[in-house]
Amino acid sequence: MLPWIIGVGIVVVVLYLLDRELYFYEGAHLGPRVQGWLYDRWAAKYDAGKHASQQQDAEVLARPMIEKLAAGQPHMPAVLLLDVATGTGRLPAVLLADPAFTGQIIALDLSREMLVRAAEKLAPFPDRVTLLRHSALTLPFPDHSFDAVSCMEALELMPNMETPLAELARVLRPGGILLTTRGTEASGRVNKIVAADRFAALLQAAGFEQIEIIPWWKNFDRVWARKPGTFAPAGARPITEVLRCPSCGQVALIQLPDRKLRCAQCESELPVTQEGIILG
Ligand SMILES: C[S@@+](CC[C@H](N)C(=O)[O-])C[C@H]1O[C@@H](n2cnc3c(N)ncnc32)[C@H](O)[C@@H]1O
Ligand SMILES: [Zn+2]
Repeated sequence: MLPWIIGVGIVVVVLYLLDRELYFYEGAHLGPRVQGWLYDRWAAKYDAGKHASQQQDAEVLARPMIEKLAAGQPHMPAVLLLDVATGTGRLPAVLLADPAFTGQIIALDLSREMLVRAAEKLAPFPDRVTLLRHSALTLPFPDHSFDAVSCMEALELMPNMETPLAELARVLRPGGILLTTRGTEASGRVNKIVAADRFAALLQAAGFEQIEIIPWWKNFDRVWARKPGTFAPAGARPITEVLRCPSCGQVALIQLPDRKLRCAQCESELPVTQEGIILG
């Protein structure tokens, strides 16, 4: 009798821990491979689950981003923006739908299936956005490549926040804009939450200033910041002018007629899926 009860107890505990790690913490403690796999599985239903929180995106994400990028200038410049952990392309979709946004976007995520959904959603803007499957932990771009960087509802999923924040700061040009989010205490995911003052300190340590943490919806605050200094605008340009070759590290990729990218230095090729996702 006793071994039977112990066996059932162990199964219940294992199922509880699995449910907590996979669904509650979304694989945050299990590494990028498991996380990418989990999001591949959730991709088809992701937007339906997030619909309510995305109602105001055009107003509270796209508009302020455009206003901050245009500040002090008569016209909105054609910027280059990097959206890290883009998921199903939530931020690119609202920015590109706004006629005032004339720039280009590189949208990066670990999960190929999330990017497939992003490709569907962003199909009306084929020349304005490029999708790249890659980790946020080592961004494959030179320093100062972007006028704005964003990373929404994703820092909590990474092994630590310092590494992705340092990468976001590195690829952002001085004077550029950061948009990110802070998971709130009300979300209940205690292990993933960083208090607002600690979050601001992390951003400062990564090299950001003018940090604004704005209450938003139950699970997340919106966070804006700026990289100090001034630097020539990065400006909208094709991904071949900013993406490093994964083999030799040079920015020397050229686009082939079949959409693949080939490195002019070392001749290695980057595959591109039929949806146009670059597998970096
Ligand atoms: C909760 S979703 C947020 C998606 C989108 N930014 C939004 O606000 O709807 C988190 C996304 O982060 C991605 N992700 C998690 N860890 C990542 C990493 N290390 N590098 C790149 N993407 C990552 C997941 O694949 C997933 O698409
Ligand atoms: Zn190369």
